[in-house]
Amino acid sequence: MERDIVILGIESSCDDTSAAVIKNGILLSNVTASQKVHEEYGGVVPELASRAHQQNIIPVVDTALKRAGVRKDELSAIGFTRGPGLLGSLLVGTSFAKGLALSLSIPLIDVNHLQGHVLAHFVSEGKPEERHPQFPFLCLLVSGGNSQIIIVKDYNDMQIIGQTIDDAAGEAFDKCVKVMGGPYPGGPWLDKLAKEGHPNAFSFAKPQIAGYDYSFSGLKTSFLYFLRDNLQQDPDFIEKNKADLCASLQTTIVDILMKKLRLAAKDTGIRQVAVAGGVSANSGLRNAFIEYGKRYGWDVFIPPFSYTTDNAAMIAQAAYFKYQHGEFCSIEEVPFARVNM
Ligand code: KG4
Repeated sequence: MERDIVILGIESSCDDTSAAVIKNGILLSNVTASQKVHEEYGGVVPELASRAHQQNIIPVVDTALKRAGVRKDELSAIGFTRGPGLLGSLLVGTSFAKGLALSLSIPLIDVNHLQGHVLAHFVSEGKPEERHPQFPFLCLLVSGGNSQIIIVKDYNDMQIIGQTIDDAAGEAFDKCVKVMGGPYPGGPWLDKLAKEGHPNAFSFAKPQIAGYDYSFSGLKTSFLYFLRDNLQQDPDFIEKNKADLCASLQTTIVDILMKKLRLAAKDTGIRQVAVAGGVSANSGLRNAFIEYGKRYGWDVFIPPFSYTTDNAAMIAQAAYFKYQHGEFCSIEEVPFARVNM
């Protein structure tokens, strides 16, 4: 009888401590502890994030194993996020994964966080209605730190053909919400308000960048100046126009993202198009994917909400691919803060 493949995945790259268990390709648990401590600072405070990871990691892993009904000695390997991310945060997950793997004498598998987001499309809950893309496919990866168009040729072969030259899409959402006086992270707040607003109430400058690259810093500046000018006329301008501002901003960002993706799909001839990362939770972007899919004959893949933001299911899934190919890493590997794929 073949041995079960049981992978524990650990994610700790930013402000979510997450652990997940995949058994023979099926996700059994995915547990995440988010950190509320950053809200009052308007952004993630790295030192506070590392400390919260230290507090959360043992209960989160313990809960993930219990929910999966898996004992530690049944694990085949441990996959962990090695980077990119906040170094202190990554160190907590990496050190924990190393210690546990060493004590159980099982292999360690390092996972690139960005590849994890893309491979979230292969996480399976064993439901018959599930659909997963086939290689190669195009993926728009949009998060708080990245905006990339990727040709995903295989689980370990991803070619970035376009990326932001300044801010990421999530950063654009967050920074614009901040100038409106909204909370952090701003994306979900804006998304909710946008539903009540008019998408074309205001228009903002769109970047003119060649190829498949993105730029969002100009939009952020034009939004800031637009608010400043209008607030001089009417101090209640933001309050009176909040929903319209959110809807118009969302339309602008989604439009910028989709136009380049459409160009990439046209030029490469790839018809399977996926979206991944925290910003893929945005309802405007999700609707645009469905609309573009219909209009241009794309086979569209939109992940369930639980696999859009940082989670360990995607890390366990990436590790599951690597396990099947015997791709393990040494106990000497250290986390990395920055790098692409
Ligand atoms: O992938 P992610 O969870 O974290 C990293 O960047 O690693 O992405 C977080 C980003 C934040 O910028 C947040 O504002 C954005 O995703 N986001 C959204 C929505 N939900 C999260 N942006 C727009 N609309 C949303 N519904």
